[in-house]
Amino acid sequence: ERTRVAIVGAGPAGLVLSHLLEQAGIESIVLDQRTREDIEGTIKAGILEQGAVDLLAGIGATSRVHTVGERHDGIELLFGSEEAPERHRIDFPGLTGRSVWLYPQHEALIDLIAARLAAGQDLRFGATVTAVEGVDSDRPRVSGTTAAGEPFEIEAEFLVGADGSRSVVRPAVTGPSREGGYFREYPFAWFGILCEAPKSSQELIYSNSPNGFALISQRSETVQRMYFQCDPEADPNAMSEAEIWDALQARTPGVELKEGPIFQRDVLRFRSFVSHELRRGRAALVGDAAHTVPPTGAKGMNLALGDVILLNQALQELLLRGSSRGLDAYAEAASERIWKSQHFSWWMTSMLHLSPEASDFDRLRQRGELSMVVGSEAGRRYLAEAYTGWPYRTEL
Ligand code: DHB
Repeated sequence: ERTRVAIVGAGPAGLVLSHLLEQAGIESIVLDQRTREDIEGTIKAGILEQGAVDLLAGIGATSRVHTVGERHDGIELLFGSEEAPERHRIDFPGLTGRSVWLYPQHEALIDLIAARLAAGQDLRFGATVTAVEGVDSDRPRVSGTTAAGEPFEIEAEFLVGADGSRSVVRPAVTGPSREGGYFREYPFAWFGILCEAPKSSQELIYSNSPNGFALISQRSETVQRMYFQCDPEADPNAMSEAEIWDALQARTPGVELKEGPIFQRDVLRFRSFVSHELRRGRAALVGDAAHTVPPTGAKGMNLALGDVILLNQALQELLLRGSSRGLDAYAEAASERIWKSQHFSWWMTSMLHLSPEASDFDRLRQRGELSMVVGSEAGRRYLAEAYTGWPYRTEL
């Protein structure tokens, strides 16, 4: 079987890339080993930058980003002592002229899958890729097993690894070594919940409390998303609902949390990672296959779309005009945003969490850092510019 571009991974990156390629008249096949239900039901983060909203809204009539999504014009930072907690709002439009949108990733995926199928996209769920070959030739191939258990082999002009942090395409790009990237681990994780309750706050609250980090986020008027810092080895089922609310409340002093039944819980591991190589021959990586950020600041999906916009340009040059110039520039062009996002995600993470190794010096220094950020317009703008995101670069 043949196609022009074989895209492994039907997440935001793979689906948006297939859309952009189709707009340029380039045919693709998108493969994902998960089922459609699994993809549409997996809870991920919820914050989109303006550029990401514009891209998703442009993908077709199925996009609900403007109707179901909600514009957020700021966040709050909460820190200080338990007796005298301080709350400071960061006003995004006032500082940057931009806002962000709260629109859960799985909702965006529901829209995208519907739009791609309506456009006639060859999109195959339950297809497991087991081999990636020939990336140094003009005819790279992926092979594996279909949902029905049949073997398949697809020969393409280009392969894209959009298949997440455990990418099967990545070893073909970086070589098989496990050390194929820049890494950082963190000594904590997030315990995340979804609950049926009214909003405890209209805007997101990022809290650095003496008991550790918490994030109060929202999903709708009746469903809320909240997180608190936990041990990476924590068992999400070991805590009672009452213990979870106690943990959240202890990390959000002064906030009146509105409690309700918890119907989903998960532990999110933290990692910073950037692959040493983003492209080799006729294969390239985008999104989490290329890099992972810790969740603080919600940069993951926004960053993935930044890669896709650049790779789309590069593939058009290659496949419509026969030039590999754009492709040769892809890794360096994408790296600029990747490392800015890595820095921001690391910075928000380290400024807001209580590390188990932290000394009193470290804790008081962190408080000084937060005071500097909220206490000056330059500090607030530094945070707001990065949180609302840098405009997507389209030129390679
Ligand atoms: C959400 C997740 C994040 O990592 C973040 O920084 C903000 C919001 C969320 O799931 O709503």
